[in-house]
Amino acid sequence: MDWGVIAEVLSGETLPAMVVDLDAFDRNVARHVAVCAAKAKPIRVATKSLRVRALIDRVKEKCGASFGGLMCFSVREACFLAQNGHDDLLVAYPTLAPGDLLALARLGADGKRMIVTVDSEESVRAAANAAEASGAKLRVVVCVDTSLSLFGAHLGVRRSPLARPEDVLRVARLARDTGHLTVVGLLAYEALVAGVADQKASARAKSAVLRMLKSRSIDDVRARRLAMSSALRDDGFDVSLVNGGGTGSLESTAEDASVTEVSCGSGFLLPHLFDEYASPLVRSLEPAEVFAVEVTRRPGPGFVTCAGGGYIASGEAGADRLPVVVHPAGLSLLALEGAGEVQTPLAGAGADACVLGSVALLRPAKAGEPMERFAEVLLFSDGKIIGREKTYRGEGACFG
Ligand SMILES: Cc1ncc(COP(=O)(O)O)c(C=O)c1O
Repeated sequence: MDWGVIAEVLSGETLPAMVVDLDAFDRNVARHVAVCAAKAKPIRVATKSLRVRALIDRVKEKCGASFGGLMCFSVREACFLAQNGHDDLLVAYPTLAPGDLLALARLGADGKRMIVTVDSEESVRAAANAAEASGAKLRVVVCVDTSLSLFGAHLGVRRSPLARPEDVLRVARLARDTGHLTVVGLLAYEALVAGVADQKASARAKSAVLRMLKSRSIDDVRARRLAMSSALRDDGFDVSLVNGGGTGSLESTAEDASVTEVSCGSGFLLPHLFDEYASPLVRSLEPAEVFAVEVTRRPGPGFVTCAGGGYIASGEAGADRLPVVVHPAGLSLLALEGAGEVQTPLAGAGADACVLGSVALLRPAKAGEPMERFAEVLLFSDGKIIGREKTYRGEGACFG
């Protein structure tokens, strides 16, 4: 992304504004496709990392034969996308909300391929009740725990409790025995491998340890995916879907023979949390998303202050969740204020040359979340803004 050109073409636009560089975006999609197509793994697009229908449609088109459906973050989002023409929607996080599940089950009964995630007796019962009320069977995947257990420590996320083949089998059998659910496979997202930066210039020793742990986790997850899918098959289940991966683990996930499809989304936009990964794919990606705020005040020499800008990412709350300034050069956030709800001060050598009313550009830490702060994205290509598209919010849709 040429930050200077983007800042220039934004003069006259209403700020704050979110910008997506379509040329960089398309190149990023092509790089994902190259990795996944080489291993014959379709890409299930993680829609939470885009939250703009036009971008989801664009990935689908650019992926071509490598497109393998959508991974949604809520049932209501999946229904919204199904009603807007999409099919093959996997909701990757369990819910027990009867109304939401019934709406989804009805879309399934009407012929859409809708899949929900279960990992407990309660989530199985909730899905089964909705399926029964819809009059058709509902597809489910069993979400499994891929965390690495090392010297008694749990390394990974706290999601599914199902860590052993027998745990998975128990929940899958429960689902089958309801008579209303069809178990189609497993959701096995390796968060430890995909979601942790492992080549940080500011933490070389820690990064080396992380790379070691990741490599151990890759072997561990591979063995467990195989054991879990074999246990299901041996019990008569048709395991046609084994989902894994995220942007940060794409190469190793695609290489896993048990995996039938990989999920990813963030890498198409490359927010800055992915700047310090060892993965060759991630290192080959380009930033394709930036937001612009207006420089409105000069509190003193060496400082300027912008309107808005406080789009902080979720997760373990640390400085890495803040956006980073990429234009003008030589400016950064203040440790004492960070990025604020209404104002974001910037400091540094570039401040005094900064004109009030000009544009500052910041890259967000995560790809999809900041889309919730904007009604539209400006589409940048070939040195100019060529269009604008509504975000979910811009369409009046809000799924949390
Ligand atoms: C279940 C699941 N799969 C995949 C992903 C990866 O998405 P991304 O490529 O946007 O990092 C996530 C991210 O949180 C996830 O929760």
